[in-house]
Amino acid sequence: MVVLVTGANGQLGQALRYVSGNYPEITFVFCDSADLDITNKQDCEAVFDQYKPHYCINAAAYTAVDKAESEPEKAYLINVVGAKNLAETCQKHNAVLLHVSTDFVFDGSKTTPYTEEDQPNPTGVYGQTKLDGERAIQEVLSNYYIIRTSWVYSQFGNNFMKTMLRLASERDTLSVVNDQIGTPTHAVDLAEALIRIILTDCHPELVEGQQLTINNFGIYNFSNEGQCSWYEFARKIFEINKITINLLPIPTSSYPTPAERPKYSVLDKNKIKETFCLEIKNWEDSLKRILISE
Ligand SMILES: NC(=O)c1ccc[n+]([C@@H]2O[C@H](COP(=O)([O-])OP(=O)(O)OC[C@H]3O[C@@H](n4cnc5c(N)ncnc54)[C@H](OP(=O)(O)O)[C@@H]3O)[C@@H](O)[C@H]2O)c1
Repeated sequence: MVVLVTGANGQLGQALRYVSGNYPEITFVFCDSADLDITNKQDCEAVFDQYKPHYCINAAAYTAVDKAESEPEKAYLINVVGAKNLAETCQKHNAVLLHVSTDFVFDGSKTTPYTEEDQPNPTGVYGQTKLDGERAIQEVLSNYYIIRTSWVYSQFGNNFMKTMLRLASERDTLSVVNDQIGTPTHAVDLAEALIRIILTDCHPELVEGQQLTINNFGIYNFSNEGQCSWYEFARKIFEINKITINLLPIPTSSYPTPAERPKYSVLDKNKIKETFCLEIKNWEDSLKRILISE
């Protein structure tokens, strides 16, 4: 079985590469943006012709949430046109697309976890382009899994955890917002969940506890379990690393950003857990694992 990974040098792409050795039954083809520019349809066709993937994991995206406000065309090109190109190429080659989306499709006005059925209402350009990308896929393809995730961090790429560790080495005091609530997601846990979906999709009989169903295509939420504020996330990062720093909780109003963030974006994971018999780790346990193993 051949699995193509786009955006292979990004955070999720690197996490997929990190876990890929655990799955000898899968031939992974990792393409970074130089190997495959998803905004270029010919590039997509050429790569699919060459490798004939059965599954494509789209880990390529425009992810600069604030910068997207000032360059919406670029965000649209990658997150919508790029996603559509991959969907059309998957359709033509009879491949299944696994596309990663975001909690930023929601406006954050809820106070209980968002389900896949909740109405999206993005508040910024990034969230809007990610939602438009989901819809572009749904228009052209039926064999898709769209996985919405949140607050992704890992030992790879740029992310909040690495920013906190860097800032702590430069400063004595740090202020972090305490009124945005969500759930951190370890990129390696997300990578494992994506592969679990693929293995279930192609060999449901081999996945323990899996019910045989005709197909499970659709939208799924995935993050780690539990919830916290960015301040609590930072506090845990420093606690586990035994870093002493003066950490101050502040309201979002004291840290204005070009793009508005959802105040609350905890995702309900019941659908993915039940469909794929998935056990999901608590965010603090996953964070401990990464910091201890580094
Ligand atoms: N990070 C988060 O907190 C978070 C939260 C929720 C959802 N997500 C979603 O999770 C997915 C993975 O995010 P991530 O954190 O791994 O992002 P990332 O680290 O920013 O990686 C994105 C990758 O996409 C590549 N890329 C950009 N334009 C491309 C193009 N035209 N063709 C091919 N590749 C292109 C980039 O390559 P270059 O560097 O070479 O441009 C980069 O390697 C994304 O869909 C994102 O929207 C992320």
